[in-house]
Amino acid sequence: MTRPGDSPLRIGMLGVGTVGSALATLMQDRPELRLVKALVRDVAKPRKIAHPEAVLTTDPDEVLAEADVLVEVMGGTSLAVDVTRRALDAGLPVVTANKAALAERWDVYLPAMREGRVYFESSVMAGTPSIEPVAGILRGSSPLELHAVLNGTCSYILQQLEGGTSYAHALAEAQRLGYAEADPTLDVGGFDAAHKLTILARLAVTPDLAWEDVKRATHGIDRLTPGLVHEAMEDGGRVQLVGSITPREGAWHVTVRPVYLPAGHPLAAGESAALLYRGVGGEVLITGPGAGGVETASAVLGDLLALASGRPGPTPLSRPVVPPANAAIEELGEVDVA
Ligand SMILES: NC(=O)c1ccc[n+]([C@@H]2O[C@H](COP(=O)([O-])OP(=O)(O)OC[C@H]3O[C@@H](n4cnc5c(N)ncnc54)[C@H](OP(=O)(O)O)[C@@H]3O)[C@@H](O)[C@H]2O)c1
Repeated sequence: MTRPGDSPLRIGMLGVGTVGSALATLMQDRPELRLVKALVRDVAKPRKIAHPEAVLTTDPDEVLAEADVLVEVMGGTSLAVDVTRRALDAGLPVVTANKAALAERWDVYLPAMREGRVYFESSVMAGTPSIEPVAGILRGSSPLELHAVLNGTCSYILQQLEGGTSYAHALAEAQRLGYAEADPTLDVGGFDAAHKLTILARLAVTPDLAWEDVKRATHGIDRLTPGLVHEAMEDGGRVQLVGSITPREGAWHVTVRPVYLPAGHPLAAGESAALLYRGVGGEVLITGPGAGGVETASAVLGDLLALASGRPGPTPLSRPVVPPANAAIEELGEVDVA
């Protein structure tokens, strides 16, 4: 990356959708950053960015030719990963919000991650810090267990079920409000939460964790009913989709499933994103916004500012963490949807 003097960091972007357009707006107040090229499908679509005719392109080569750094806010595991790989091979740093690509194609990012050239705070819990704490200060507090609420769409649907709305109606409402994707399987099937949990688990305990193993241990909320949710509420508790990393028989168990949370449980507050970390240094709870254009873009911007100031991205674990043998682990009651 060559940057003479104090010239702005030239940003090449993949995607100007929900996150990308919020990021373009936030960057307008940051003279140290300049959006030079952005890849989209349709350059004619109206968008709130300055000089769209000069910035927008459908040619990834143009983005790579002009950028000091690639920002990937496009999504998917094919074109986004191909262009990212080219940027990394060319020595560029990459900032990405793409949790699916990180979870499923970690191998593409790993060599550059070891060099601190990959920044991905926004990929998990959007604007709420999770990557930096888990890959940083919390490594000193050897992990005993981690539990997290990682998908805001599921939390919203579960809240609706609590109010007696049927699953089908709750999902339709989430789609109408723009919370859920048109194809909601990633959200309600638990796979979006599983992508995020895979990233956290690799950073916290098992660097070689296979996505397929987490996928097999993932159960969504699509078979829940108001009745099952009300069972939990009778005791003052709630049902939440929770991703957990726990030690079990000498290995780390990584799973996503709906669970009953007792009244007063730290994850039962209904936040759209929450992470509960228990380590030898005690219990840490991090909560905040888990999705949304500005929320996610703010974390991407934070990564860009870190990069511009010379701070490296989070580094992967060099070796697996040995699971504790006799830790008292919280067993969360799984919801029986069979
Ligand atoms: N939205 C959130 O709350 C959130 C939170 C955390 C992480 N993320 C992650 O951030 C990324 C972006 O999410 P988003 O919600 O901003 O997505 P989005 O609104 O669907 O925007 C996607 C953008 O990528 C462009 N694009 C998609 N496929 C393309 C292709 N084949 N060729 C060229 N351009 C293409 C689209 O172009 P057009 O505009 O021309 O269609 C659009 O500008 C995803 O990885 C997502 O998982 C999102």
